[in-house]
Amino acid sequence: MVVQKKPPLDLSKLKVPTHMAVIMDGNGRWARKRGLPRQAGHRAGVENLRRVIDACVEFGIKILTIYAFSTENWGRPESEVRGLMRIFSHVLDQELDELHAQGVCLHHLGDLSGIDPHLQRKVLGAIELTKNNTRLILNVAFNYGGRAEILHAVQQIIADGIPPEQVTEELFSSYLFTRGLPDPDLVIRTSGEVRVSNFLIWQAAYAELYAAPEYWPDFGREALYQALLDYSQRERRYGRLPEANES
Ligand code: FPP
Repeated sequence: MVVQKKPPLDLSKLKVPTHMAVIMDGNGRWARKRGLPRQAGHRAGVENLRRVIDACVEFGIKILTIYAFSTENWGRPESEVRGLMRIFSHVLDQELDELHAQGVCLHHLGDLSGIDPHLQRKVLGAIELTKNNTRLILNVAFNYGGRAEILHAVQQIIADGIPPEQVTEELFSSYLFTRGLPDPDLVIRTSGEVRVSNFLIWQAAYAELYAAPEYWPDFGREALYQALLDYSQRERRYGRLPEANES
């Protein structure tokens, strides 16, 4: 096996986000450009996910949230949905031990019911196995939609009989799938598209957005480094004035 040497990158220049979220877009176009079936693009996407997880560990990112399958993705042709489910199942079989050894803690965001029970059990087993790992939290948004998440939270708050005056932003956040985790600092979307697509619509209220030109399978370690360099130059104001003008 040829082990590719990673070129050194100057990490001292980086302001590293604690929580980075990624919309992994462009697998299909990556495949079409090469005259390959879409499934080949998704497989290349999986290979790239491995590179990006390694880079997140290397750069010191603590939480990575990936948009793997949205509630809207059920609308794709049945053969593609079946292919994606097979890929997810295969990835859990092939990568779980390595992720566990690497110190990755897996979380799931979304609705597991409605997924094949065999895959559900695999996901729950992976979460259980990795629950005490602390190096990187990997949130996999799978059968996830931001609006559905918010509706689910509202329904639970009502079902729990919480009086309206007690419904604060903090309480509401504690009913979301990301409960207990800080909001994303940076949301990256690959393939040059600039849309949020129902992803973390509550949590990303103050996130910095970055549109990467590469299709997801090509968005590797160096592209991530460029995104982080760009993020490092942003001034996060949360609706306030720049620091120099605050007095
Ligand atoms: C977008 O490409 C990608 C997806 C629909 C998500 C699938 C992601 C992977 C297979 C990567 C690995 C993820 C896991 C959890 C193993 P697209 O099909 O929307 O591309 P297009 O817009 O070019 O058609």
